[in-house]
Amino acid sequence: MARDAWGRPLRNLRISVTDRCNLRCQYCMPEEEYGWLPRDEILQFEEIDRLVGVFTGLGVDKVRLTGGEPLLRRDLPRLVRLLAARPALRDIALTTNGVLLGAEAPALRAAGLHRVTVSLDTLRPARFAALTRRTSHAQVLEGIAAVPRAGFTGTKLDTVVIRGVNDDELNDLVEFARTVPAEVRFIEYMDVGGATRWSREQVVSRAEMLDRLARRYGPIEPVIEESSAPADRFRLPDGTVFGIIASTTAPFCADCDRSRLTADGMWYLCLYALRGTDLRKPLRAGASEDALRELIRDRWQGRRDRGAEERLALRDRSPLIQIARLKEDPHLEMHTRGG
Ligand code: GTP
Ligand code: 5AD
Ligand code: SF4
Repeated sequence: MARDAWGRPLRNLRISVTDRCNLRCQYCMPEEEYGWLPRDEILQFEEIDRLVGVFTGLGVDKVRLTGGEPLLRRDLPRLVRLLAARPALRDIALTTNGVLLGAEAPALRAAGLHRVTVSLDTLRPARFAALTRRTSHAQVLEGIAAVPRAGFTGTKLDTVVIRGVNDDELNDLVEFARTVPAEVRFIEYMDVGGATRWSREQVVSRAEMLDRLARRYGPIEPVIEESSAPADRFRLPDGTVFGIIASTTAPFCADCDRSRLTADGMWYLCLYALRGTDLRKPLRAGASEDALRELIRDRWQGRRDRGAEERLALRDRSPLIQIARLKEDPHLEMHTRGG
């Protein structure tokens, strides 16, 4: 298994299958216009699958399909089927905004997808419209309902908590998640690429979220477990478990075993990294599996990234990347990198 400069294994690969999205969340895609990756540079499913074969040879056993919005990619279940045929993959998950999930959930399940995580920032349709600049809230709720119906378990709901936007809905989201059933995870607003409107004042910290939830539900216990997942899990007095991803105030870089492949085959080792490795070029030039493996191993062994920790150490924190720079290189965007 490949280990990086800090001893972290390469285990978790996030695969973005498209940079396009059918929502415009204010924390991710706040601008009016975006440039898109050229069509002919987007990896074919067979190309993605081939790269996954190389990654599993180095220790990857967990993949997550992301976007943009991954369900905008035509016939995504076909990719799931290719990946599900790889016994080395212990976990194949999908992160989606849920808009198209109602129609797709059964086919994804039949194709062999293991788990689904749906982004859900609000239960209020008007607020959803303001936050995403689209009116598909009812579709998202239908999408979420379709997940357990299709037979999935281990479902998660991801909520980015923003002060003054949706931080009054923590209790409601806990209640809603119970009914799905799903585990809700509250995510601290991050100053990643694309979050050009980020400000420190809008971040609700893990400590504050716990405080507010304890006021409503009573004493909250941490769930003790060994894991490299970004979420810390907690239990309410009635047994309900929820998560908090404190990427902004308490980053998990020290245990980070993840890297991300963009839809056009760039490989990034950190959510905050400014430079990645082009895997499409050698892949399309006919590089052998061994050559690709050595390239990936070499890059991973040199990995020293602790992006979120470095951000935390900054005194004056403002959005990571300015708009002009994002326009020059869309790979710096969260929606291209897949979160
Ligand atoms: P599981 O725990 O396996 O379900 O997956 P996950 O938590 O990795 O998946 P998900 O896509 O739901 O990720 C949750 C959120 O954590 C992302 O949307 C980001 O907001 C954040 N996140 C993901 N990767 C990183 C990372 O490398 N660094 C930081 N700081 N945050 C990340
Ligand atoms: N802060 C935190 N999480 C973000 N995501 C996108 N942008 C941000 C941000 N600025 C994550 C959320 C969302 C997923 C698609 O990407 O988890 O649900
Ligand atoms: Fe929202 Fe996800 Fe689309 Fe970004 S990629 S705009 S977070 S739904």
